[in-house]
Order: sequence, then C-alpha cells, then structure tokens
Amino acid sequence: MSNAWFETVAEARRRARRRLPKSVYGALVAGSERGTTLTDNLAAFGELGFAPHVAGLPAQRDLSTTVLGQRIELPVILSPTGVQAVHPDGEVAVARAAAARGTALGLSSFASKPIEEVVAANPRTFFQIYWSGSKDQLLQRLERARAAGAAGVIVTLDWSFSHGRDWGSPAIPEKVDFRTMLRYAPEAITHPRWLAAYAKTRRVPDLTVPNMGVPGQPAPTFFGAYGEWMNTALPSWADVRWLRQQWDGPFLLKGITRIDDARQAVDAGVSAISVSNHGGNNLDGTPATIRVLPSIAEAVGDQIEVLLDGGVRRGSDVVKALALGARAVLIGRAYLWGLAANGQAGVENVLDILRGGIDSALLGLGRSSVHDLTSDDVVVPPNFLRRLGA
Ligand SMILES: Cc1cc2nc3c(=O)[nH]c(=O)nc-3n(C[C@H](O)[C@H](O)[C@H](O)COP(=O)(O)O)c2cc1C
Repeated sequence: MSNAWFETVAEARRRARRRLPKSVYGALVAGSERGTTLTDNLAAFGELGFAPHVAGLPAQRDLSTTVLGQRIELPVILSPTGVQAVHPDGEVAVARAAAARGTALGLSSFASKPIEEVVAANPRTFFQIYWSGSKDQLLQRLERARAAGAAGVIVTLDWSFSHGRDWGSPAIPEKVDFRTMLRYAPEAITHPRWLAAYAKTRRVPDLTVPNMGVPGQPAPTFFGAYGEWMNTALPSWADVRWLRQQWDGPFLLKGITRIDDARQAVDAGVSAISVSNHGGNNLDGTPATIRVLPSIAEAVGDQIEVLLDGGVRRGSDVVKALALGARAVLIGRAYLWGLAANGQAGVENVLDILRGGIDSALLGLGRSSVHDLTSDDVVVPPNFLRRLGA
C-alpha cells in the first residue's frame, strides 16, 4: 500500500485531483473570472525573501499565540469553507484535526454539518455568517451558535455574486437523488476512492446547509439558502455595527482589503479583521492580501487583531505574513486538499507541514517566538506593496 503521508501542500493538491470527481475538485481550485487575484495571492508570497542568520540560533521555538481569546499552538486557523462532498465526515473531520493539532476553525454557514456536532468535536469553533435573510433570521443563527457554544463569530462581507470563471463553475446539484447519481456516475466510477468513502457511510453526499435553517425544521438546500442570501438587501456599516452589538463575544470581520474599511470595522466595534479577498473567489483584480497587509496592520493593528488569508501554502508563507503584521493566518484550499487526500489525517498532515515550515523559518531567522518576527526578517522588493483607501 502506498504511503498516505504527504510532504507538501502541492502533493495534497495532486492527490485531491486524482481522488475527487472533476466538478468537486474544480470547486476547490478555481478563482473568479480570469483568476488574476488567485494567481497574485500565490505569486506575491514567492516574491518575498528572507534575511537569515547562521549562528546564535534559538534551540527551541515557540509557535503558540492567541486569537480571539483562544490559545492556539500554531498561528494558523482553518478558514470557513462552504464546500460540500469533499469527504463524508466533512467539517467534523476538519474540527477534529484542528483539535488534535491545538488550533481553531471557522465553520461556514454553508457547511454540511450542524454547528452542534462541530463544536462537540472542537470547542474552538468560530461560526461564520453572511448578511442573509431578515434581522430575525440573523439573530436566530447567532442564538443557535451561542447555545451550541461557539467561541466567536466571523462575518464575511466580501462577496459580489460574480459567477463567471474561465475554469468553468462547478455544477452543484440541488439534491443528490437517483437521477443525479446516474448523471454523475461516470465521474464517480472513475474516482472509486471518493465513492468508496461515501459508500461506507451508506449515504450519498449531503447538499443541505443545516446551519442556515431553523432548528427542528428540515435543513434548506444549498441553492435555497444561496437564493435567500442573493435576495437580501445589502448591509450598511450601521448594519454591521448592529450585528456586532448582538454578539457579546469575539467578532471577526472577514474580507477587508482597504485602510478606510479597516477603520470602519474598528468603529463598528469588531475584535478582529481578516485581510482577505476570499481566496481570489470574489472581485477579480483585487491585489494579493499580503501586499495590502502592512498598510492595514500599521493603521489599525494596535486597536484590533489583524489576521490574513489567501494563498498560504507553506509555513514560510505564514512567517512572512506574521513578519509583515498579521497575528495569525487562516487557510482554505490547503486543508481542503488535505481532507480530500486523506480525511482527518490529511488535514492534520497539512497542519504538520505548516508547523514544520514555520519552525524552520523561525530557526533560520534566529527568532525564538512567532511574536519576535519583524519586517526586518523579510526582503520586500520595490513596488511590492499596495495601499488601498488611504
Ligand atoms: C471552495 C471554497 C469555499 C469557500 N467558502 C467560504 C465560505 O463559505 N465562507 C467564507 O467566509 N469563506 C469561504 N471561502 C474563503 C476562505 O474562507 C478563505 O478566505 C480562502 O480560501 C483563503 O484562500 P486560500 O484558499 O488561498 O487559503 C471559501 C474558499 C474556497 C476555496
């Protein structure tokens, strides 16, 4: 039998491609439109260099920190992703892997598992919501998250309903019934291990979104919930402030790329922001998040926690983000590929890869803690940075 362990996130991605049906894999790799932002998220990390030392290096390195009041053993959190059918254990496997490696996760509103099950697997769960439905529905969702024991809330605001992808968008069936199975049969037959994982559970992939529904009633379908969201009036900053006041715990606003919006988030009373462009899945042409991070961290980093997500594939990427002002990062695709490649163990494998990479970068830079990193540790080429909305 081949070794299930993989050495890099790139290898996890190759295994995910082999294992998943084309339409499911497509959902995990594509970016919106031309993919300019997705490409830049990755390329920008590659443009940054390091300034290493060679002697007097620390024998031990401390990777732990805190985010939103939670201690985490490495400065990496699993970002909320609403992807169905990657693995039958879905977000519960992700939550268990995060718990096993001492970190937290965001649970998407569009997740396939109910929040109660996910919090039971890992109490360090932050529930992610979109501005969707009426204020009463938003309050019901927050109340459910509170009752389930969520450690905080993530509100994601950067979504502009752009559905054109040069890759082609994945076809997500409304529900998986016998006819859909027949339509997808050729894909399933050529991806026997993915199908076998579901066959073991004696269930077909679940395409409902239980956290968007009312407890005690049948969960809405993915498209039903998406339709509700598309038809909701868009939030103002006053609405964001109102939402923040409804939750008396840690509150993260995800999707900031501009300095003026970061200041608005501070005024709205948030505890943290994630500098994010939705992994290149939102407005294509937005710069890589690592390019805009330093100006945002400089503007608001002493008032709230500043995190980053987008393009993180290696421990060295995490160290670059921390050196340029992030408290921690969130990862999306990297853990989804790990999940597809090897379930819970695959997500743990990805976190181990990142831990190893962070530790060697700290060693090379002569830093004994993630808190000691500064911009002197990285080489920033001319014309690398972007300041938006200054
Ligand atoms: C397939 C997929 C689904 C996603 N679904 C959500 C979601 O439901 N809610 C959300 O806040 N972000 C969502 N995101 C964005 C991620 O949380 C994160 O911002 C992004 O993946 C980070 O970029 P990376 O994939 O390069 O790490 C999704 C991303 C991907 C790739």
